[in-house]
Amino acid sequence: MVAPSFQVLVCGGLLVLCSIEALDNGLALTPPMGWLSWLRFGCNIDCDAKPTECISENLIKRTADLMVSEGYLAAGYEYITIDDCWLDKDRGPDGRLVPDPKRFPSGMKALADYVHSKGLKFGIYEDYGSSTCAGYPGVEGHEALDAETLASWDVDYIKLDGCNTDVRNMNKAYPAFGQLLNATGRPIVYACSWPYFLEVNHMKPNYTAVAEHCNVWRTWVDIRNSWASVVYTMNWMASNQQRLAPFAGPGHWNDPDMLVIGNSGLTVNQAKVQMAIWAILAAPLHMSVDLATIQPEFKAILLNRDIIAVNQDKLGKQGLRVWSETFSWRHKFQVWQRELSDNCYAIAIVYFGHHHTSSFFTHEELRIPRQNYLLQDLYNIETDRVLEAHKTLTFSMNGTDVKFYKFIPQAFDVFVKQI
Ligand SMILES: *[C@@H]1O[C@H](CO)[C@@H](O)[C@H](O)[C@H]1NC(C)=O
Ligand SMILES: *[C@@H]1O[C@H](CO)[C@@H](O)[C@H](O)[C@H]1NC(C)=O
Ligand SMILES: *[C@@H]1O[C@H](CO)[C@@H](O)[C@H](O)[C@H]1NC(C)=O
Repeated sequence: MVAPSFQVLVCGGLLVLCSIEALDNGLALTPPMGWLSWLRFGCNIDCDAKPTECISENLIKRTADLMVSEGYLAAGYEYITIDDCWLDKDRGPDGRLVPDPKRFPSGMKALADYVHSKGLKFGIYEDYGSSTCAGYPGVEGHEALDAETLASWDVDYIKLDGCNTDVRNMNKAYPAFGQLLNATGRPIVYACSWPYFLEVNHMKPNYTAVAEHCNVWRTWVDIRNSWASVVYTMNWMASNQQRLAPFAGPGHWNDPDMLVIGNSGLTVNQAKVQMAIWAILAAPLHMSVDLATIQPEFKAILLNRDIIAVNQDKLGKQGLRVWSETFSWRHKFQVWQRELSDNCYAIAIVYFGHHHTSSFFTHEELRIPRQNYLLQDLYNIETDRVLEAHKTLTFSMNGTDVKFYKFIPQAFDVFVKQI
C-alpha cells in the first residue's frame, strides 16, 4: 500500500530530513480542488419544497454545467462531490447501496457518466459506521461490497465519515477500507474523517499512519457559514500546526474543511482571508456554494489564479502561522507564511481590527531570509514593489482584511519593471 517519499520537513522545530510513508495511489499530488454539497445544501431532501436546492441529480448536473461554463474547471476545480443524504434509507435486495430513487432516478453510474462527460471527476460521501451522520446506510459490515459498488459507479473521490461507530476501531477500519478501495483497481481519492473523530475524543491520532492510508483527512469540526467559524478553524490549525504540518505533502493533506466563500456568512474581505489562509495551508479547496447565484466579487476570489497557484505549489509544503502576539501593540494582526518552490514565499497578513490602519513587519518577524524581494500583491490592490533587505515591510489596511503577497527573491542589482 505504501512507498516512502523523502521530503525536507520541519520536525519539532528543526529542519531535518524525514521520511513520510505516503499512500501510493498516484492521486492528490496537489491539494484536491472541487465542489462539495454539504455547507450550502446540507441534508435538504425536500425536492417538492426546494426543487433547486435539494440533494439530487439535478443539483449535481446543474453544478457540473456551471463548473465548466463559468471557468471553475479551467481554474482547477475538478471534483464534484455529493455529501451525505444521497442514499435510500434501505439497501437493495442484493445488499447493495441504492441512491434515493426519487432524487437520483437515473442512478449513480449515469450521473458519474454525465460528470465525466464534462471533464470533471465524481465524488461521493459514505460513512464507516452502521449509518451515516444523517442516518442513511453506512458501510460497516458491508465494506467489500460497498467499495466494489462505489468503484463500479466510477467514483473518483470518497469522503468517508465516521459517525455511528466505535472510535476505537478506526485505526484498523480506515486502513482496511483503503485496502478495499485499492483492491477495486480504480484510482479513488480517499478522504478520511479518522483523525477528526480521534481528536474530538481526546485520542491522539497517529498522523504517520493517517498519511500512509489517506489522501486527505479532516482534522477538526465541520466549518460553518460564519466568520467566527472560519477564524476558529484558522486558529485551531495554527495551534496544532507543529503536530499537523509535517504530514502534509504530495498525495496527503490536512483538510480544514470547505470554503465558505460566496455564502451569506462572509463579507468579501472575510472571504479573501479564507482563500489566502487555505492557500497557505495547502488545504483542499472545496467550494460549497450555489454557483448559479454567487456574486461576482466572490467568484473572482475563488477564481484568483495567482492564489490557486500558491495552493497548488508543487513543493507541497504546508505553511504556518508565524506571528500572533496577544500582548503586542500589533495584536490585531496574524502573519501566515508558506514556503514555495523556486525559493519564493507566500505571506498573508491578516488584520482583525475594524478601522483603517498602517503597520510593518521585519524580515525576521515574517521568518524569511534577509534579502531583496519583489512583492506581488495577489489581490491586485497594489502594484508590484521591492522590499529591500534592510527595510521593513510597511502596509496599510482596511478593517478585517488580508494582505496577500508573493515574495520573489531578487538579486541586489535588479531594477523592477514598472507595469
Ligand atoms: C494499490 O496499491 C499499490 C501499492 O501501494 C499501488 O502501487 C497502486 O497504485 C494502488 N492502486 C490503486 C488503484 O489505488
Ligand atoms: C504510527 O504509525 C506508524 C505507521 O503505521 C507505525 O510505524 C508507528 O509504530 C505508529 N506509532 C504509534 C505510536 O503507534
Ligand atoms: C480600503 O477600502 C477602500 C474602499 O473600498 C479602497 O478603495 C481602498 O483601496 C482600501 N484600502 C486598502 C489599503 O486596501
